This record gives sequence, C-alpha cells and structure tokens, in this order.
Amino acid sequence: MSASLITNRLDFAEETAGSIAVQIRNLNYFYGQGDLRKQVLFDISLDLPKGQIVIMTGPSGSGKTTLLTLIGALRTVQDGSLKVLEQEIVGLSKSELVKVRRNIGFIFQAHNLFDSLTAMQNVEMAVELTQNWREKRRLATEILTRLGLGERLNYKPNSLSGGQKQRVAIARALVNRPTLILADEPTAALDKASGREVVTLLQQLAKEQGCTILMVTHDNRILDVADRIVNLVDGRLESDESLDRFVETHDPKRLDQKMFIL
Ligand SMILES: Nc1ncnc2c1ncn2[C@@H]1O[C@H](COP(=O)(O)OP(=O)(O)OP(=O)(O)O)[C@@H](O)[C@H]1O
Ligand SMILES: [Mg+2]
Repeated sequence: MSASLITNRLDFAEETAGSIAVQIRNLNYFYGQGDLRKQVLFDISLDLPKGQIVIMTGPSGSGKTTLLTLIGALRTVQDGSLKVLEQEIVGLSKSELVKVRRNIGFIFQAHNLFDSLTAMQNVEMAVELTQNWREKRRLATEILTRLGLGERLNYKPNSLSGGQKQRVAIARALVNRPTLILADEPTAALDKASGREVVTLLQQLAKEQGCTILMVTHDNRILDVADRIVNLVDGRLESDESLDRFVETHDPKRLDQKMFIL
C-alpha cells in the first residue's frame, strides 16, 4: 500500500473520530455492593454523531437515566470505554471531569431549580459558570423570552407552573450554548404546544451549532425530530435505527405498548 493511501486512510479515520460526539464501547454498570450488587447496563456500545438528535426510549427502570448520567460525567464509569467530545472520560480526575461537563447542557427529570432564586437568577447562575458576568442578564432574558417566559423573569419557582419550571430548567441548560445536550424527559411536564416549542428550539440548536442531543422521552408527539431512535430494554440496547426504520418495524400498537404503558 502506498504511503499516500495510508495517510489518506488515517485522515479518514481521524475525520470519522472527529464527527462522533459520544462514543460508548462495551459499557457495563452496576449499582450496589456485595450481595446487593446489581447490573443495570449490559455491554452498551453506541455512537452519537455530531449534530444529530438521538431519542432514547425504553421501559421504566431500563437504565436510561443511568446511561445519561454516565455520559454526562455525573457518575463514574466502572467497566468499558466512554468518549465524550473526543475525550476518554474513564480515569479522568475530578477537575478534568468538570471541564468536560462545561460543554454539556443537562435537562433532568426533576428540574432542580433553586427555590429562593427567580427564573432569571436561576438561568444567570449557569452563565456565571462561564465567567461571562457582563452578558449574563441579556443572555438569560433572551433565552427565557424565547421559551415563552418573558413575562415571568422575576418569578420564583414556587409561583410557576410545572411546565414553566421545566422551561426555566431548559433555558438554564441551553443558555451557554452547549455542544452536547442530555435531556431526560424534557417535555414530560409540558402541554402539547410548549413541548413542541421546546423540541423545535433544541432542533434549531442542533442545526445552527452542530450541537448533539440525546433525549430520553416517552412522548410520541416529538419522535419526528429524531435522526435516530435507540431503545433500551432491561439495560440492553435493543435497537439502534433510523426513525423510518423504527416506524416501519414497530407497528403503532406495539410502539404504544413499549413506550407508553410503562
Ligand atoms: N442510586 C441507585 N441505587 C441503586 N439502584 C438504582 C439507583 N438508581 C437507579 N437504580 C436502579 O437501576 C435501574 C435503572 O434505573 P434508571 O433510573 O436508570 O431507569 P430509567 O430507565 O431512567 O427509568 P425511568 O423511565 O423510570 O426514569 C432500576 O432498576 C433502578 O431501580
Ligand atoms: Mg429515568
């Protein structure tokens, strides 16, 4: 093989590696110790290409949140390999993990807002992490307004509805324009219109900034935004396929049973 061909191949390999935001290989995860040790993730291998929106579905207790928190470097990988934004995170120090987390926006099942702070202050706090003191008010106002909370900037979480709180949490995750967004049922507390607005915003972000999104959802109203759907059952990746193929191979009844009666 000629030298140039080898170089080209290496270039190609590097390019491919550069286009993957998250690469998971043979990942196993266990909760508990000794006799109580229980495996919850089994031999997970998965690539999330940059700029894609991947939706993860699966029954309650199948390990979705666990996988999301591992990718988000909020939990330590015990076995296997996990590369996030081109960096192997297995074996990183705490301070290195914090750096990785700065590029990630989290939207959790429970929104974790600070009750004593207003919507604006909750979002500003996220901007402060990037030391962007001068712009924090403008950025927080802009994103909250875009999410329909322009009239609620100075409300505290206790005076907001469930859906509004969820939107503040989403604003907080998006305000620093992260490269990777991990969202755990982000539309669960939202009505149809606001749920759609949120996913449209996520979709725009993915398009405009090449941002990658992994979203856990049981919400069939938003499946159409996915480039790919991944199904986790009993800690195992059952399918990893395009939306078209997913719809083709799962008749609606079965889809409902799998995803909504959980
Ligand atoms: N901190 C923990 N300690 C021990 N077991 C846990 C812990 N967190 C989760 N589990 C168990 O691990 C399994 C996977 O839980 P996980 O929260 O990842 O599921 P999930 O797919 O997100 O479920 P849901 O759709 O209900 O949110 C479950 O059996 C759960 O009981
Ligand atoms: Mg969960």
